[in-house]
Amino acid sequence: MHVVILGSAAGGGLPQWNCRCPICALARAEPARVRPRTQSSIAVSPDGTDWLLVNASPDIRQQLSETPALHPRAGLRHSPIRAVLLTNGDVDHVAGLLTLRESQPYALHATRGILDSINANRVFDVMAEGVVTREAVTLAAPFEPLPGLSVTLFPVPGKVPLWLEDAQLEIGAETDSTVGAMIEAGGRRLAYIPGCARVTDALRARIAGVDALLFDGTVLYDDDMIRAGVGTKTGWRMGHVPMRGEGGSVAGFQNLAIGRKIFVHINNTNPVLIEDSPERGRIEADGWSVAHDGLALSL
Ligand code: MLT
Ligand code: MN
Ligand code: ZN
Repeated sequence: MHVVILGSAAGGGLPQWNCRCPICALARAEPARVRPRTQSSIAVSPDGTDWLLVNASPDIRQQLSETPALHPRAGLRHSPIRAVLLTNGDVDHVAGLLTLRESQPYALHATRGILDSINANRVFDVMAEGVVTREAVTLAAPFEPLPGLSVTLFPVPGKVPLWLEDAQLEIGAETDSTVGAMIEAGGRRLAYIPGCARVTDALRARIAGVDALLFDGTVLYDDDMIRAGVGTKTGWRMGHVPMRGEGGSVAGFQNLAIGRKIFVHINNTNPVLIEDSPERGRIEADGWSVAHDGLALSL
């Protein structure tokens, strides 16, 4: 299985357009110390020829342009992307669908709940009916978005997208609005979970034994955004479990047989983004990598 991390940052990217926090400032001034990163997306292929895009970020155009395997390669119009899968309806995971128009056929897969929010918004009709097929995925039921690639979606603790929050907001519920994807090809397994509010026993049991885990690295501590002075929201309020602190993912996934553990969807306030920071050193000492854009895995 071939995997490319197209975008390793959380919503906003790095640097974020309007942010002068120390990490965004370093990404502009010293890119060797803080690599700039685009927003959350990966591409997966069983054979290196046909690709599944998992989440369509607002930066998709740049990501495709920087990834030769995803360039058109036949006839006048073509794309190696044959299918697209969404793990939630967040802006950083769906806005790129608006770029994937222009009469290119592919299948869009998402849970009923996520697909309903796309269907309800007419701007997404730019993915023309009869060209892009929209397919509701049942939780826990394996399906094949590409020949030789099997995907099983499972709910993880989360919440509805920020743009759909209302007075009934419930955080940490396991519904079909935030899911993880177990992706399998050639007997190898990748778990992709870019958003998750809590590490549960059920999640640990599901992940045990995978060849690679790409997991929510939004915040180091629950109060990163508050410490950085850029906002008032905790990781929990945004639906993201911290790496460290009570209930943290580093401890949560410790002592499980996992081939590679890699943080993705990293917010620009997270100090692990600074290459020479003690926080980065400690995360790596605990067996985790911090993804960067273009990171490729062969599983
Ligand atoms: C998140 O991951 O919390 C969302 O992408 C936030 C947002 O929609 O900006
Ligand atoms: Mn996000
Ligand atoms: Zn910033």
